[in-house]
Amino acid sequence: MGRNAKIELHLHLEGAAPPAFIRGLAQEKHVDIGGIFDERGAYRYKDFWDFLKVYEAATSVLTTPEDYARLVTAVLEESAASGVIYSETFLSPDFCGGRDVGAWRDYLAAMQEAAAQAELRDGIVLRGIITCIRHFGPEKARETALCAAETAGDWIVGFGIAGDETSGQPKDFRWSFDCAREAGLRLTAHAGEWGGPQSVRDALNDLGVERIGHGVRAIEDLALVDELAERGVVLEVCPGSNVALGLYPNFRAHPIGQLYDRGVKVTVSTDDPPFFHTTMAREFEMLHRAFDWDEGVFAQLNRTALDAAFCDADTKSRISKVLEA
Ligand code: HPA
Ligand code: ZN
Repeated sequence: MGRNAKIELHLHLEGAAPPAFIRGLAQEKHVDIGGIFDERGAYRYKDFWDFLKVYEAATSVLTTPEDYARLVTAVLEESAASGVIYSETFLSPDFCGGRDVGAWRDYLAAMQEAAAQAELRDGIVLRGIITCIRHFGPEKARETALCAAETAGDWIVGFGIAGDETSGQPKDFRWSFDCAREAGLRLTAHAGEWGGPQSVRDALNDLGVERIGHGVRAIEDLALVDELAERGVVLEVCPGSNVALGLYPNFRAHPIGQLYDRGVKVTVSTDDPPFFHTTMAREFEMLHRAFDWDEGVFAQLNRTALDAAFCDADTKSRISKVLEA
């Protein structure tokens, strides 16, 4: 399973930064962010909300387009080593130039160039989904949506919302999602991780998204599960993330098995892999052990993910050939 081709739809770019990469950058810049690492050099946090703080502290050392280019290189090396051939990553103009469109364009150009180099080297294809950050509030989300609308195209393919799911309501962000949709972007939202089933309904109804980041707590409302299956809503499930953050005690207790059995379109991603001590190879291995899923199931998960990818049809058919090879 480890090296088999994989499609990943839910990956936060800064959250994929290897701790050694962030430490190295902090040293180069003579800034002290020591408190965010444990004695073994891994990221240290107490719970999801502390994780968000540590994430933002680690991100604070990424201050230039060049830093982000190096980050893309480091992250795609890790992904390719797990067999990932196509990846969609969440990008935040909040961290890349403070939501200024001109600055954001410079960051974006640097990241795209690094991604093009990685594609030449390892064959891995990257596309970007711009996310607003829920706990930064609807006002900043509007500025983020404008950055997204300005740079929407065949590389920036989607818009979403990350951050603290317990802060505010999906409908507070409707303007931003409408703006992104009008610019031709496809939509996804984090829901049903720290919010219950109603948060999934709200994301679908109030924001009009076609994919849900996590969405796993839909399992607490079987009518909703049936609706997700009927409507073909795709869940970007990150089992290792949910286990690491204590939502479920282990993989066997994770609802992805039931959601799959009930016909929901589930896909598998890592979220913030070094924070959650995971990789795409490990996710597949743990799912194999927990549910006895085999190559046939994994092939189906990958096809579901590629179908739900936000890239254009030509890119999809190119990736599809690699997946089937
Ligand atoms: N969940 C929500 N918001 C985030 C995450 C995450 O895993 N990583 C960065 N922002
Ligand atoms: Zn996430």
